[in-house]
Amino acid sequence: MTLQAHQVVGGYSVSDQILKGVSVTADAGEIVAILGPNGAGKSTFLKGVTGLLPTLDGVITLEGETLMGLRPRQIAEKGVAYVPQENNIFATMTVRENLEMGGYIAPDAAARASEMFERFPILAEKRSEAARTLSGGQRQILAMAIAMMVSPRLLLLDEPSAGLSPIAAAELFTTIKEIAAQSVCVVLVEQNAMDALDLCDRAYILSAGRNHASGSGVDLAADPEIRRTFLGG
Ligand SMILES: Nc1ncnc2c1ncn2[C@@H]1O[C@H](COP(=O)(O)OP(=O)(O)OP(=O)(O)O)[C@@H](O)[C@H]1O
Ligand SMILES: [Mg+2]
Repeated sequence: MTLQAHQVVGGYSVSDQILKGVSVTADAGEIVAILGPNGAGKSTFLKGVTGLLPTLDGVITLEGETLMGLRPRQIAEKGVAYVPQENNIFATMTVRENLEMGGYIAPDAAARASEMFERFPILAEKRSEAARTLSGGQRQILAMAIAMMVSPRLLLLDEPSAGLSPIAAAELFTTIKEIAAQSVCVVLVEQNAMDALDLCDRAYILSAGRNHASGSGVDLAADPEIRRTFLGG
């Protein structure tokens, strides 16, 4: 499973293309981070891959098949799951109901929900509680579990560690590693740049809707220009 995005152009209005040419490649089992300043187009890029935002130019393929022009539902059926930056759980529904919503296109939703409860004991413990009663870290776990209900091949995560304590973020990153180890391709956007470079196999730094730099997490973290401009020294 390979995601290939090449020179993707797209935005919220025809006159204002936020993505001016973004290229990202990710393979099965790989964790790829997308970093960059606020407004760089990171979330917009993920929305372009999921079909939530129409893309105007460039190439986006999964396993060689184009995703461009498909509806979000069709893209989801090809194995792409997406956890948005905000509003990524149904607050008033129970934890179990949240998982069922995630599994509405999964043929084996009940069995899959049981798997999620095994993998994430905290969700099992709170299965009958409203999702709004979860802590920030538990909500992010739930959001990821909702996405995992469809057994995705490509998991897109928008700032999964936002608002979490260092310990909760580290636990979440361990979970992300376990997911990738099961041959899922993980593409994540992160503000927590140093930790993301540590976690990922490769990273792309976007700036003003374009690729600014890319490389292994280790190389980017050691690059003086990248450190100065994007990592705060
Ligand atoms: N729904 C929208 N309608 C119009 N413009 C938008 C919309 N969402 C984002 N934008 C604009 O697109 C640009 C890129 O936004 P995007 O959300 O992709 O940035 P980001 O890199 O994810 O930033 P952040 O780190 O703050 O989440 C910004 O200039 C933003 O104002
Ligand atoms: Mg964003």
